[in-house]
Amino acid sequence: MSDVILQANGILKRYPGNIALDHVDFRLHRNAVNVLIGENGAGKSTLMRILSGVESCDEGTILLDGKPITLRSPRDAGAHGISIVHQELSVMPNLDISENIFAGRELTRVAMVDRKTEDSQSADALHRLHKPMPVSAQT
Ligand SMILES: Nc1ncnc2c1ncn2[C@@H]1O[C@H](COP(=O)(O)OP(=O)(O)OP(=O)(O)O)[C@@H](O)[C@H]1O
Ligand SMILES: [Mg+2]
Repeated sequence: MSDVILQANGILKRYPGNIALDHVDFRLHRNAVNVLIGENGAGKSTLMRILSGVESCDEGTILLDGKPITLRSPRDAGAHGISIVHQELSVMPNLDISENIFAGRELTRVAMVDRKTEDSQSADALHRLHKPMPVSAQT
């Protein structure tokens, strides 16, 4: 198994009047903490948005485990096991804990949001973090 799990080759991203990424290559190594460093405006966030399906690139290829993938949306990226934790996390105060955790990626069953499974998976996640789900947050 290759040490490189995700590979981006020749990524070009143009914004009106500006080239944010000019044929950038990037490798993500398996079982390692990978760090991307660059000055303000270097294109780090743009690259992460492309790799998480938030934005598309104008040129270049992305390989996952050596196979080319197309990321048209964050959902596409999620289906490949790629997701992003954004720098500025915000909690929606009008939603409960479980609704916040599953916002935008709700679990469904027979075309309905499956609150029971969402609540149970949220409680499991909080348990792993040694933070039991408050009783008031359980539906
Ligand atoms: N939506 C956008 N429209 C136009 N230009 C953009 C857009 N997003 C980013 N840019 C430009 O693309 C370039 C790369 O920006 P980006 O935000 O990816 O850099 P960064 O490395 O994340 O910077 P920082 O360290 O400040 O977070 C910059 O010149 C920026 O002004
Ligand atoms: Mg940034």
